[in-house]
Amino acid sequence: MTSVALLHRITDYANRADPYPLYAELRKTPVVQDEAGPYVVSTYWEIKELLHDPRISSDARNLSPDAPRGPAQEEDPNLPPTFLRLDPPEHDRLRGLANRPFGPPHTPRRVHDMRSELGEIVSGLIDGFRDREGGDGIDLVDTFAYPFPVTVICRLLGVPREDEAHFHQWADTIAASLDPVSAEDREARAETTRQARSDLALYLAGLIEERRKSPRDDMLSAMAAGHGPDGQLSPVEMISTAALLLIAGHETTVNLITNGMLTLLRNPDVLKRLRDDPDLAVPLVEELLRYEPPVQLLPQRTTLTDIEIGGTVIPKGASLWLVLASGNRDPQRFPDPDRFIPNRPDNQHLGLGSGIHSCFGAPLARLEAQLALTELVRRLDNPRLLEDPPVYRQNAVLRGPRHLNIAFDGLK
Ligand code: HEM
Repeated sequence: MTSVALLHRITDYANRADPYPLYAELRKTPVVQDEAGPYVVSTYWEIKELLHDPRISSDARNLSPDAPRGPAQEEDPNLPPTFLRLDPPEHDRLRGLANRPFGPPHTPRRVHDMRSELGEIVSGLIDGFRDREGGDGIDLVDTFAYPFPVTVICRLLGVPREDEAHFHQWADTIAASLDPVSAEDREARAETTRQARSDLALYLAGLIEERRKSPRDDMLSAMAAGHGPDGQLSPVEMISTAALLLIAGHETTVNLITNGMLTLLRNPDVLKRLRDDPDLAVPLVEELLRYEPPVQLLPQRTTLTDIEIGGTVIPKGASLWLVLASGNRDPQRFPDPDRFIPNRPDNQHLGLGSGIHSCFGAPLARLEAQLALTELVRRLDNPRLLEDPPVYRQNAVLRGPRHLNIAFDGLK
């Protein structure tokens, strides 16, 4: 493939429903520079190597001044960058402090203890399909795949239910700003994004203050109270971390659940296997993260020095696009990569990243998807797609169907 307009082809909406043939073409040249500047990396081992290389930075301030600007530029100047966009030692300090109220070793039970609450949310949402049985069907995104993780992340953090609606709006606006496809109209949307960020920050500041005064059993309260031997998040760090979790918890799991149901409905034999054996959900969700990863690529890395990889020297300060979804289909790593094999062995996919930035919310994301898919196939009688391929979201980075219209004969 020539490098001409490579980024354009990746972000081109025409390739959204099935980007995989394009990725197969890309992998013929593991590292290639696009005419717009960024180096696109598409093979498994090269991506993996770069994700573990300390000479690769996630901090946009290390981009050379003439490198094309990425979406990171649109962060709120009043808030410090989140740890997603920082390198060690700042990254490690902030991630460690954020992890204290979330996971082991300090809070090993947080996600586990949410299991029954997650189950109740799932059941409640599926019960809500009842009045649509046998009719025109439902849009699984609006009725289930979106509200489920949104409700969960709000509960986890401690956002009151009546405020959840505001979050949809803010999170949608901020997530759309991560989409490099709209680079041309970046200026136009910059103001809307800034407004959403600042509204969200203001709201979170108030809520954190409330939780400081009267703590509850949620992450915001724990963050606000947290004095530990390893220090404490400052007030602005708390706001920016909470905002990161909220956005990351909104815009990714929805696509994993939707891609999951789409894949199951396209593979009825697998759907039946899951219905007969709910334990299959664990490896099946891993295979989904490989086969249809909700985060298709990481467009935000840069080189701290010249780096030789895949026969190419990438100069210091260059912008990198790591195409995780392409690495996941690399035949050098995964036998028969275009087949969905629910119990695929040795499935070290890149769907949740790798290295120091690997997904912070992974245990929650996995559990949500496992519960959601198991319950959907158990309760929906004869579910079927009404539209294939479905209509996709514009976003090329956070890729997934905007709607998934399905019909079913009844509810169990
Ligand atoms: C299926 C759902 C999810 C997918 C596919 C996903 C994917 C990813 C990926 C690929 C990265 C690596 C980013 C990079 O290397 O630059 C990442 C990082 C991250 N994820 Fe997730 N994520 C999911 C759900 C969640 C949830 C539910 C949360 C919050 C509870 C979350 C919080 C984060 C955070 C905070 C980071 C930054 C970690 C760091 O920089 O150290 N994610 N995620």
